[in-house]
Amino acid sequence: MPSKSDPRPIGVFDSGIGGLTVASALSKVLPGEQLIYFGDTVHLPYGEKSAAAIRSYASGIGKFFIAQNCKAVVIACNTASAVATRTMTKLLTSKIPVINVIDPTANFVAAQYKTGKIGVIATKATVNSRIYAKRIEKKNPNLKVTMLATPLLVSMVEEGFFNNNISQAIINAYLEKSNLRDIQALILGCTHFPLIKKEVSGYYKGKTRVIDSSELVAEFTKAVLAKNNILNGGKAAAHRFYVSDLTTSFTESTHIFFGKKVKLSAKNLWD
Ligand code: DGL
Repeated sequence: MPSKSDPRPIGVFDSGIGGLTVASALSKVLPGEQLIYFGDTVHLPYGEKSAAAIRSYASGIGKFFIAQNCKAVVIACNTASAVATRTMTKLLTSKIPVINVIDPTANFVAAQYKTGKIGVIATKATVNSRIYAKRIEKKNPNLKVTMLATPLLVSMVEEGFFNNNISQAIINAYLEKSNLRDIQALILGCTHFPLIKKEVSGYYKGKTRVIDSSELVAEFTKAVLAKNNILNGGKAAAHRFYVSDLTTSFTESTHIFFGKKVKLSAKNLWD
């Protein structure tokens, strides 16, 4: 099939700033693509909500992306990926591919490690879904996946409260838990956590690999766009950022990842 150029944007969403780690990797791997980011700060943290509530937030955001003429949607949130991928796929139909952050990471880990124990830190909702254990152990039954809910880390990151002694002590207190003992690798199973990767890696002193899914997801998205023949060959229009409630920490984080000139607007889809 001759390749055409598709300038339509890619919708990317999370409950807050976490998905910016994925958006940033997407903009590096796919510099020709325009992103429309939605941070659902009104409903943050998703990790504490019921699956039904998260699905209804995801539906609202999916409808917004349809109205924005998005050609693909990246669920840049493990919690929403765990409980709302099916809802989103159904809503967007096969015409708009949906990429979640869990499958590319689970596939990578299942292929990379032969046997042993893999740790995952994530929100309560992601841990309750057991999604990483199900996906990885199904692909590679010789691996054992152990998941730990680390809810305090989301609010810490969202507040910009990290890289200090207290945040390191909180991180250490979680990582010391017995079910994370003797792991070969630790998956950062929440898109907020790449922002504290340095502190997590510091705890392991380089002896345990810490896996950040943002690049894997960006490469996977590129492959999906290529397969569907919807890559943009031309120059990308400027990214747009929306939040359901504009917060100072979101504004600051957007500037850190994308520079000061970004267009950031408040848009409460539930008003
Ligand atoms: N960043 C999200 C995740 O990857 C969710 C954090 C939250 O809202 O609880 O799970």
